[in-house]
Amino acid sequence: MPTSAYVERQTPTIRAASPIVKWVGGKGRILPQLTPLLPPGVERLRHVEPFAGGAALFFARQPKRALLSDVNPDLVNTYTCVRDDVDGVIRSLSRLAQKGFTEETYYRVRTLYNAKGKAGRNDRAAMFLFLNKTCFNGLHRVNRRGEFNVPMGRYTNPRILDEAGLRAASDALANADIRCGGFDDLLETAKPGDFVYLDPPYAPVSATSNFTSYATDGFSHEDQTRLRDVYRELDRRGCRLMLSNSDVPAIRDLYKQFSIRTVMAPRAINSDAAKRKAVAEVVVRNY
Ligand SMILES: C[S@@+](CC[C@H](N)C(=O)[O-])C[C@H]1O[C@@H](n2cnc3c(N)ncnc32)[C@H](O)[C@@H]1O
Repeated sequence: MPTSAYVERQTPTIRAASPIVKWVGGKGRILPQLTPLLPPGVERLRHVEPFAGGAALFFARQPKRALLSDVNPDLVNTYTCVRDDVDGVIRSLSRLAQKGFTEETYYRVRTLYNAKGKAGRNDRAAMFLFLNKTCFNGLHRVNRRGEFNVPMGRYTNPRILDEAGLRAASDALANADIRCGGFDDLLETAKPGDFVYLDPPYAPVSATSNFTSYATDGFSHEDQTRLRDVYRELDRRGCRLMLSNSDVPAIRDLYKQFSIRTVMAPRAINSDAAKRKAVAEVVVRNY
């Protein structure tokens, strides 16, 4: 089923939107399994996504009121620029796209992107999009100095500029509050009656007993526990909560007082094609 089938306020003037970045853990492929699990009357609630990433659920739903946030400042800058000045982003990205996709252009853009401070906001957003479309598997990884260090991807003709897609995303983002910050900020921003979709970096799937000492994407088991505490607080506050994570005992244990469903998710990004099989995920809801 196409993503547009899920747009709730689709009218002839509103185009369907979809993620503008490829993102690890992006929820595009499991939307058909997530949307039936949304709370009744969700279209009347504010949509809050504190781990926005590619924001697949947001773009599929196009809610009238939304708060999107993520800890990644460059991702947040990109959404803000696409919302506020999509023409500027398109102009800047088309200049980059015109140079073509070669090893030389990829590494030139990457070097420029890492020389922080000189480029304007739209130019940074354009470079972020260029690198996302052309880097290895759409990964976003930075070294200790905060420099983007993902190598070039193997593409013959990557679609660097999708003008219609950016304009549709800009329309979808028009009324969204977009912020940079950690999930703890929810304690300040979430209000009773909000619908909050939480999609953190997943707990590692590991059979080892010292499982809780591992961290994925710098998100440790301690972070998962702090997130559960935030989840409990928002539950007390009267928010509608839906959380995705890997189906492992430690996560089931953290959320045992809530309703847990299992969904099967195809793994979109894995360097080893043989490992791209479906894995079980949990969806934890408080309604
Ligand atoms: C699994 S991805 C979300 C994918 C998203 N639902 C989608 O459809 O593309 C997790 C996101 O959480 C963000 N993140 C990691 N640690 C965070 C934190 N402490 N607070 C808020 N966001 C965080 C990452 O930057 C990443 O974008």
